[in-house]
Amino acid sequence: MVSTFPSASADLSRVRQDILSLHPQIIEWRRLIHQKPELGFKEEITSEFISQKLSEWGIEHQTGIAKTGIVATIKGSKSASDRRVLAIRADMDALPIQELNQVSYCSQHDGVMHACGHDGHTAIALGTAKYLQEHRDRFAGTVKFIFQPAEEGPGGAKPMIEAGVLKNPDVDAIIGLHLWNNLPLGTVGVRAGALMAAVESFHCTILGKGGHGAIPHQTVDSVVVAAQVVNALQTIVARNVNPIDSAVVTVGELHAGTKGNVIADTARMSGTVRYFNLELKGFIQQRVEQVIAGICQSQGASYDLEYWGLYPPTINDAEMAELVQSVAAEVVETPLGIVPECQTMGGEDMSYFLQEVPGCYFFLGSANPQKDLAYPHHHPRFDFDETALAMGVEIFVRCVEKYLNS
Ligand code: NI
Repeated sequence: MVSTFPSASADLSRVRQDILSLHPQIIEWRRLIHQKPELGFKEEITSEFISQKLSEWGIEHQTGIAKTGIVATIKGSKSASDRRVLAIRADMDALPIQELNQVSYCSQHDGVMHACGHDGHTAIALGTAKYLQEHRDRFAGTVKFIFQPAEEGPGGAKPMIEAGVLKNPDVDAIIGLHLWNNLPLGTVGVRAGALMAAVESFHCTILGKGGHGAIPHQTVDSVVVAAQVVNALQTIVARNVNPIDSAVVTVGELHAGTKGNVIADTARMSGTVRYFNLELKGFIQQRVEQVIAGICQSQGASYDLEYWGLYPPTINDAEMAELVQSVAAEVVETPLGIVPECQTMGGEDMSYFLQEVPGCYFFLGSANPQKDLAYPHHHPRFDFDETALAMGVEIFVRCVEKYLNS
């Protein structure tokens, strides 16, 4: 267990010393949560654990928001002319994956695993809450903790916002982080503007006319139509989207037919669409339908299309990104530690919070190949370097002090 930072400067500040003395407990909470992973909206043991800890520390909180969500508030006692509210968001859910790690804190729930690091996000938020509760004299204003269910889908952020978690007291800004094995420990991925992509999905059934494989002229071959559709959908990104903007159209599923000498009556496909630029909202959807309709019409087939949006793009406010960046630079090794080239076409429902209030979502590097802790997120052997837990707490704490005291 590493208890020092890779950047361990000779002069550890008071904040860092306090957090490092809390670090073993944060690791313990993370491991307890890791052993009891729960799927979205079923985070009951996790939620109970969080509530119990908050009560133990005397932190005011409300449970059962959007089923398993929790909101906690801590008021600073430092005086300031302007008392603001900063929210810190952590997601709590796990994934339907059988863990293959052989560690003492392995998942005890068959087929469910914290394979994305949300156990770490919850532990970091808890560590931050404990630290701030014990050092209320060091900040002004209010910190609101939002423990959110179901980030992996169908999404707990939206129902929590609808339940009013950003109101009373009204949140002025929000921050959140994702432990990130695509970045090494000791780095922070942070940038203004789009960090993660919008996520949209579709299902399409091509309705042809089946028949004998040797008598194609009596049929409408749904396999031939589907093949053209899959190819033509690729031209949306290649030919219709401005090449300066990034977008993805992926058909990840295609099913048709039962036998080599039988022409399939129908073909089913499903796919995912990603983009950063909000101006593309609606445009790609329209092009997907036009492409499918045009090809089907030319081939005498018809179709059934379902298309829906999941999460909007995750877009950071420039000033809040600047705040996180300046704070992170004190915690990780600079200049190499701050990585602005960290965009991903993955999606996040933190995006809903960022549509409501200015904020910043960032990636906290957590991979350590030397300790074999570098498997990608959602892999059955995903795990991360727990040194990142203390770094996450320090970044949050310093953001709170800098944002609320200024
Ligand atoms: Ni995740």
